[in-house]
Amino acid sequence: MTETTRRPRISHVPRSAREAAFRLITAVLIEGRMLFEADGVLEGLAPPDRARAQRLANDTLRHLARADHVLAAYLGKVPPAPVLAVLRLATVEICLGGDAHGVVNEAVALVAAMKIGGTYKGLANAVLRRVATDGPAIWDIAPPAYLPDWLRGPLVAAWGGAAVRGIEAAIITPPPIDLTAKGDPAELALAVGGTLLPTGSVRLDPGAQVSALPGYAEGAFWVQDAAAALPARLLAPQPGERVLDLCAAPGGKTMQLAAMGADVTALDLSGPRMRRVTENLTRTGLSAQVIVGDALTHQGQYDAVLLDAPCSATGTLRRHPDLPHVRQADAIADLIALQARMLDHALTLLVPGGRLVFCTCSLLPDEGEAQVAAALTRHPGLRVLPADISGVESVWHSPTGGLRLRPDHWADRGGIDGFFMIALQNG
Ligand SMILES: C[S@@+](CC[C@H](N)C(=O)[O-])C[C@H]1O[C@@H](n2cnc3c(N)ncnc32)[C@H](O)[C@@H]1O
Repeated sequence: MTETTRRPRISHVPRSAREAAFRLITAVLIEGRMLFEADGVLEGLAPPDRARAQRLANDTLRHLARADHVLAAYLGKVPPAPVLAVLRLATVEICLGGDAHGVVNEAVALVAAMKIGGTYKGLANAVLRRVATDGPAIWDIAPPAYLPDWLRGPLVAAWGGAAVRGIEAAIITPPPIDLTAKGDPAELALAVGGTLLPTGSVRLDPGAQVSALPGYAEGAFWVQDAAAALPARLLAPQPGERVLDLCAAPGGKTMQLAAMGADVTALDLSGPRMRRVTENLTRTGLSAQVIVGDALTHQGQYDAVLLDAPCSATGTLRRHPDLPHVRQADAIADLIALQARMLDHALTLLVPGGRLVFCTCSLLPDEGEAQVAAALTRHPGLRVLPADISGVESVWHSPTGGLRLRPDHWADRGGIDGFFMIALQNG
């Protein structure tokens, strides 16, 4: 649904979770900001209201296409963007079983408080009353989700229409929470009441209170999607090997490498994000040398390098439903060029015969398979190592070498983030 762009004029502390959710979705849909960049709007709200506002915003962004399908039945003309945002928010809440009376009243009040409210509150009231009556029936037969064209096109070309429909189905489901154990994953699964996955991660239901789990304060585990836990296992450092984690923050892979006994150097450009690596290492009692620096200019010699390069993050759509509405194809072209430069520089940091794992949490082959194919052409001495990791599904093995994971995989287990990873060896 195309909207007229106009910023909403509300600046006080939000009066309710719904008002905060409205501001979050306008930050994403009108101002083009990611949710984490807009979370200042939650300040002043009690923790339960903050959590509710985030859930409402995430639900709305996940189900936007479905909400638009419902609204299209009642809207002759698309209203200005802030009004449309309220209608979408309210439609999603109603169609997911919220208290229609309360939702409609507050939505109309939100529109009435806008400068243009006098013109649109009657429309909001009329449309939402109809949504409350007939909307859920339309919702039930609407297509579950629809990725924006800039992303859908390349994904259909890469993986086919059926896979993309599977990805779209996956992203409307709140994802489970995966943990990586510092020690024995089976013991952790027992202690926290989670499910031990074949790849060694421990899975909890969505919304689990991680900091309340036994072992959290002692640093017995950290949160890491099951897919994100695989690159460090693919690198498989030997105890004492000098390993460089080149884009390390917030440090999930650094902790894995350190827990495997490697002599780890963790580097990242972002000072604030690197502070989180230090905090994470402290909590888990693991150690690594922590450097704030540029992966493109860092010098040194290492037995192995893990390059978890900055990317479109399109593999994490389940966890970041704001992403398809903010990221655009032109920004990804710059990331692809940066990844190639990082890969080339990372290879100069390896001892002869050293190993490099390149990975991205992207669904786009240009940030995965094609990126590595180009690197292999630029570096004739480079070879692909087998991706032998226990517990991975055979369909994850990419014909180009390495592993390709998508959010439609493991649908019966609660899904998994999208990732590409490959191990390379310097000749
Ligand atoms: C995909 S995230 C890394 C996630 C991390 N490996 C983990 O497992 O927790 C990419 C990281 O690259 C960092 N980055 C971006 N450009 C960089 C550069 N030129 N040098 C070093 N780090 C960079 C970002 O700050 C970001 O933390």
